[in-house]
Amino acid sequence: MNKPTRFDANSPEARDIAHHLHPYTNPGLLKETGPQIINSGDGIYVTDNDGKTFIEGMSGLWCASLGFGEKELVDAAVNQLRKLPFYHSFTGKTVNPAIDLAEALIRIAPEGLDKVFFCNSGSEANDTAIKMVWYYHAAMGKPEKKKVISRKRGYHGVTIAAASLTALAYAQDGFGLPLDFALHTSSPHYFQDARDGESELEFSRRLGEELEAMIMAEGADHIGAFIAEPLMGAGGVIMPPQGYFDVIQPILKKHDILLIADEVICGFGRTGNMWGSETFGLAPDILTCAKALSSAYLPISAVMVSGQVAQGVEEQANRLGQFGHGYTYSAHPVPAAVALRTMELMEERQIIPHVREVAPHFAERVARLGRFNCVGHTRAIGLIGAMEFVAQPQSRIKHDPAVKFAAQVMKLAHEEGVILRALPCDAIGFCPPLIITPQQIDDMFDRIEAMMPKADALSRELA
Ligand SMILES: Cc1ncc(COP(=O)(O)O)c(C=O)c1O
Repeated sequence: MNKPTRFDANSPEARDIAHHLHPYTNPGLLKETGPQIINSGDGIYVTDNDGKTFIEGMSGLWCASLGFGEKELVDAAVNQLRKLPFYHSFTGKTVNPAIDLAEALIRIAPEGLDKVFFCNSGSEANDTAIKMVWYYHAAMGKPEKKKVISRKRGYHGVTIAAASLTALAYAQDGFGLPLDFALHTSSPHYFQDARDGESELEFSRRLGEELEAMIMAEGADHIGAFIAEPLMGAGGVIMPPQGYFDVIQPILKKHDILLIADEVICGFGRTGNMWGSETFGLAPDILTCAKALSSAYLPISAVMVSGQVAQGVEEQANRLGQFGHGYTYSAHPVPAAVALRTMELMEERQIIPHVREVAPHFAERVARLGRFNCVGHTRAIGLIGAMEFVAQPQSRIKHDPAVKFAAQVMKLAHEEGVILRALPCDAIGFCPPLIITPQQIDDMFDRIEAMMPKADALSRELA
């Protein structure tokens, strides 16, 4: 039974509270605050039901890469809806946009990846990748290679397998997760976790040793894959420290462990290259992507696999009679058409060169936030960055997590008209649409800087 709230019973807020169970939301709090109802969008801006316009400093959920008003993507969807609003790709059927999109993705994929499987979300892509790992190793006569290693603070989604790999308490608590196929090794968060005096390279080597010890303890013949975001997004925009992937990858190779690069945030230009794998030197066997694949206009994700994995999967499928996996909406023609147009627009508008051009200015504006006392660390690459908070200047001492400092700063930014996101290591992420101009970067960070003295005052009060 829904109790009355302070909102008028017929208001959209009250109706939302009454019947909509929100993802990643505290329902009790929502009853007090009410939802913020976003009504329209254009470029880097969104406008809510009260008519207030905000800079969307997170591209929604790290996804609306071409902004919120790209008519070309709307046209691509409408044209495809008129021609063929749905068809599936089971039992050997397919649709033209899926053929074109698969080809376009493989053309831009990191070397060695040559087949694509389509899903609807990042979570589904990662679940699919895990099933492919299991299928592949079984085909190779190693069905025991079932465990998958992810990193603490890694975010890989919320379906049961993906959530088991998402090594963040908020995604596992209360669900009895992780399932026991999932193992978690340390995250490469140098600022937070390096020992005093330890260099980045030493830190990377130590994490490599820890990983190898875990592999030896479990038995390499039980470990099928290692999954990593090239840079960890939702866990805190954590950059791999120097040498990290150079240390990790030979260990995986040595033990016949596949590398899954989760490019759900990093893919399609976010770090200044098409793939985070390019930026940080990963050579994945499997790559998952979603979000900016369609600039988030329609749900679609993809799993790209190497020739070797594809061959293993096909052999196993031939043996069993079919590849027994697929979603009703795998390779749905409408999101596929929108994704294809997104890829074309990235090329026509030279989005990646644009990201590279504005990235130094973005990095400089992020770095400038480091002069505020409550900021312990700043980081940025391409058009993604973060500021991480500390309770005492020039230290790594954190506020009590219960005070949710980053969330309070996020609210201050909201009051200045910038939507940002509080992240688990008491950080705030920045991830604006890739079309942002230098002037808009200034506008966004001017507003953030305007509220930072309040954040400093709050930090002093709470410390
Ligand atoms: C790196 C990464 N992987 C997977 C996912 C899950 O994607 P989805 O929410 O589309 O299931 C996310 C979502 O933020 C993500 O950031």
